[in-house]
Amino acid sequence: MNYLENLKWRYATKKFDTSKKVSYKDLEKLKKAIQLSVSSYGLQLYKVLIIENIALRESLKHFSWGQNQITDASHLIVFCNYTNVENKHIDGFIELTSKTQDIDITNLNEYGSFIKGKIKQMTQSELFNWTSKQTYLALGNLLNACADLRIDSCPMEGFESEKYNDILGLSEQGLNAAVIATIGYRSFEDYSQNRSKVRKPLNKLFQTL
Ligand SMILES: Cc1cc2nc3c(=O)[nH]c(=O)nc-3n(C[C@H](O)[C@H](O)[C@H](O)COP(=O)(O)O)c2cc1C
Repeated sequence: MNYLENLKWRYATKKFDTSKKVSYKDLEKLKKAIQLSVSSYGLQLYKVLIIENIALRESLKHFSWGQNQITDASHLIVFCNYTNVENKHIDGFIELTSKTQDIDITNLNEYGSFIKGKIKQMTQSELFNWTSKQTYLALGNLLNACADLRIDSCPMEGFESEKYNDILGLSEQGLNAAVIATIGYRSFEDYSQNRSKVRKPLNKLFQTL
């Protein structure tokens, strides 16, 4: 499939077909696409929840502007950023790099200290914003991977993070629900699939210097 064709095909799905489920195989592909997302320094300072449980989704829907996609879609994906960045996150990344690339850890310690030093310069709220921004890169990858597999999706910010954090027990894990997405298959009754895309013209969006 052509990349631009995929992007034209996808749209923020408002009404999902409740009878259709994303297969295990496709879900694994989507997980790998998220896993391959870029992140600052490669730290991947987030966790991704994949929620199938319908009762859980019903309770989350109350805190998602009542949006039907939460329960009608095949799966609800919650991208959770770490609210604080601790040395253990960087140490874990350095260890993983050492193992994966077969590099002696002593050769990576300087890089680890560099990252820790940069992170120390950030305030708590800067760190929170920084880790939550990383989740949007993963979200973008999920949406594009979905389009490639002809799976519909809807990125969503219309939800109450604090309620999600309570219901999903995220706060005690040092996590915060940053952004969510629903995935599944469009209902033929979803009229928004027929609407033309509203996008700024290229000459307004770009400036070549
Ligand atoms: C971060 C983000 C949050 C969004 N939140 C919602 C949402 O809560 N509910 C919804 O129906 N659409 C939501 N959207 C969908 C946008 O409205 C939609 O992507 C935009 O209008 C462009 O249309 P298209 O995706 O159909 O091309 C969100 C999109 C993004 C990127």
